Amino acid sequence: MYLKVEKMVLGVLVGVFLSLSLVTQASAYGATDDREIIWVSEKEKALLLSEMRAFLNASQKILEANLEGDMKAVEEAARLVGVSLFKNTPEAIHEKLPITFSMIGPRAYMGFESIVDEATGGEDMMVIFSHLAELQKNCVACHSLFRFKVKE
Ligand code: HEC
Repeated sequence: MYLKVEKMVLGVLVGVFLSLSLVTQASAYGATDDREIIWVSEKEKALLLSEMRAFLNASQKILEANLEGDMKAVEEAARLVGVSLFKNTPEAIHEKLPITFSMIGPRAYMGFESIVDEATGGEDMMVIFSHLAELQKNCVACHSLFRFKVKE
C-alpha cells in the first residue's frame, strides 16, 4: 500500500516533467518500434491491456455523456477507471513497471478520479472536456515510450 501511495505522489510530480519535456512523437510513427519493452507474463499483459481498453471506453463514454450534459453518466464512466481501478492492479505488476511508467500511470487514474469529483460537483461541461484533453496527454506520452512483451 505504501508503494502505491508513493507512486501516486510521484505521479503528481511528473506533471512538471511532462510539461517541460514534451515526449518526441517521431518514434510513434516510424517504421521501427523503439519503444522500451516491459516484460510481463501473459496474464499480466491481459490485465494491463484490459485496463487500457477500460480507459478508452471511459474516455469515449465521458465525451458522449458530457456532450449530452448527462453528468451522472460522466461520473459513472469516470469512476470505473479512477482510484478503484488503480488499487485493483496487483502489487506484483507495479513492481515490474519502470519508474517513468509508474510516474505517468497514476496521472491517468487520478485524472479520471477528478472528473468524478467535477461531475458530482456540478462543474461546467467545458471543465470536463478540458480535463479529459489534459489527462489524455498521459495516454499519448506513455504510448510513445513503452510496449508490453510476454516473458513467463
Ligand atoms: C503509464 C503508461 C500508459 C498510460 C498512462 C496509458 N497507457 Fe494505454 N497502453 C500502454 C502500453 C504500454 C500499451 C501496450 C502497447 C504495446 O504493447 O504495443 C497500451 C495499450 C493500450 C491500448 C490497446 C489495448 C489492447 O487491447 O491492445 C489502448 C486502447 C490504450 N492503451 C488506451 C489508453 C488510454 C485511452 C489511456 C489514457 C486514458 C492510456 N491507454 C493510458 C501504456 C499506457
